[in-house]
Order: sequence, then structure tokens, then C-alpha cells
Amino acid sequence: MSLIDHARMVRENAYAPYSKFKVGAALRSTSGAVHVGCNVENVAYPEGTCAEAGAIAAMIAAGDTAIAEIAVIADSPKPVSPCGGCRQKIAEFASGDVKVTLTTTDGIVQETTVAALLPGSFDADYMSRV
Ligand code: THU
Repeated sequence: MSLIDHARMVRENAYAPYSKFKVGAALRSTSGAVHVGCNVENVAYPEGTCAEAGAIAAMIAAGDTAIAEIAVIADSPKPVSPCGGCRQKIAEFASGDVKVTLTTTDGIVQETTVAALLPGSFDADYMSRV
């Protein structure tokens, strides 16, 4: 099954009663395993979590530590774009050249990379004097 299909499937489980906007994310870690996540909202709105954060949490919980590829899907007019916070979260576990596939449920696909999504990102190098 493709990464997009994994993301499409887990999106069905999203808990999004407030925004009604269901998102699915699937990543392949460098071990080859697939980890998935969906958005999980909360009545205290800022406590909700994004699909990408869920997939990353699943990857870490499973003992994997690096993203080889990631896909995100939503029912949007154009391929869904990870929020700023999720770009930073993805960058923690992916090199800049890692492929990010953004898709809509009706099949529009946009391929990009972690570096393109988060240019000039803050990384550990900035803390090298500490
Ligand atoms: N959302 C994600 O899960 N991932 C994204 O890339 C964009 C936004 C969620 C957060 C919230 O539950 C809903 O979509 C509307 O913002």
C-alpha cells in the first residue's frame, strides 16, 4: 500500500468535531516501517494535535527515529500544507531532502521537500556554543 493510501485510511479516524477538517499523515521511517497519525481535536481548542504530530509520536513510540518520507492528505481544494509547527516537528526527524507528498482526497498531488517547507530552519547548529 502506498504512503498516500496509508494516510487516506488513517484520516478516516481523525477526531475533528470542531473544525470538521479531517487530516491523515503517514510516514515511512528509515527502518522501512510505516507510522500513521490523524488530527485529534479538543474542546479546549489549542490542545488539539495535528495529524503529522500523531504520526511522529507513533514513530518515536515504536522505536524508530528518522523519517525517510512523509505524506499528508485532507479534503481541501489544493494539497494540504503542514502548519508551521508541524514543519518544525518534521524537520526534527528528517533531513532537508526528505520527500513530502501533499495531497487532496480527490487526487491532486504535490511533491515537495522538508527544506522547501521550512527554509532557514532553527536547528542544533545554532546552539553549538552552549
Ligand atoms: N491540521 C492537521 O492535522 N495538519 C495540517 O497539516 C493542517 C491542519 C488539523 C489541525 C486541526 O485539527 C484542523 O486540521 C484544522 O486546522
